[in-house]
Amino acid sequence: MTDASPLDTWQLSDTEVFSKYGDAFVPRRAEQTAAVCDLLADVPVPHVLDLCCGEGRLSEEYLRRHAAARVTVLDRSAEMLAMTSERLAPFGDRFDLVRADIEDRAWRTGVTYGGVMTSLAVHHLDGEGKRLLYRDVHAMLAPGGVFVMADLVEPTGVRARALAADHWDASVRRASEEQFGGDEAAVTFEKTEWNYYRLPGPDPVDKPSSVTEHLDWLREAGFVEVDLVWMYAGHALFTAKRKAN
Ligand SMILES: C[S@@+](CC[C@H](N)C(=O)[O-])C[C@H]1O[C@@H](n2cnc3c(N)ncnc32)[C@H](O)[C@@H]1O
Repeated sequence: MTDASPLDTWQLSDTEVFSKYGDAFVPRRAEQTAAVCDLLADVPVPHVLDLCCGEGRLSEEYLRRHAAARVTVLDRSAEMLAMTSERLAPFGDRFDLVRADIEDRAWRTGVTYGGVMTSLAVHHLDGEGKRLLYRDVHAMLAPGGVFVMADLVEPTGVRARALAADHWDASVRRASEEQFGGDEAAVTFEKTEWNYYRLPGPDPVDKPSSVTEHLDWLREAGFVEVDLVWMYAGHALFTAKRKAN
């Protein structure tokens, strides 16, 4: 049984729900975080942008692994940036914060990164927004720079969609037992209708694209070594590289 009453759940904002249950809601989150950082191990400049950083989990792991590296964390939520700032405080001055909307283009000019990483955010952009983002990220990277993206993707058939929904539910149920000793996270996942693949129709906020579209758009943006390196429960991890000179 869950300790959280339905009333508690309804009173939480999406940010609070994600902050409390993110480790259970994101399938194999630790594995994804490790893979993102593995893919950024050899970037040409030890400065990485964490796009839509949330609480700064990716940045924390990246900075922990690379003592000489720094990150720039970007999010539109002041609340999330404050949480990231607190989390990254042990790394001293090795990070800076940018408050911006992912759709804006001002943050995309005037700076060069060795890597750009992002998790669970690009699906807020529509197809054209993603294509433009990939072109701009490619231009922001130093030669040999690496882009890594973890995100929801859109299945192209009903059976694949049903499987993504089932796998995500099962993953959250397992994690709920492991992390909360019961169904607390699983009940909240269901009550908040977090499983995108269970939604009956198009969603105005979440606009995932298919694996093929992402791969095509990344190549079209000029990236090389474009790959899908991991996928489970509708969550995919892509990597792409700006050609070295
Ligand atoms: C689901 S959380 C993921 C956070 C983090 N990347 C992670 O994987 O733990 C999505 C994040 O994207 C941010 N976000 C959502 N829409 C955004 C937008 N249009 N521009 C900038 N940030 C946005 C939210 O504030 C939140 O921090």
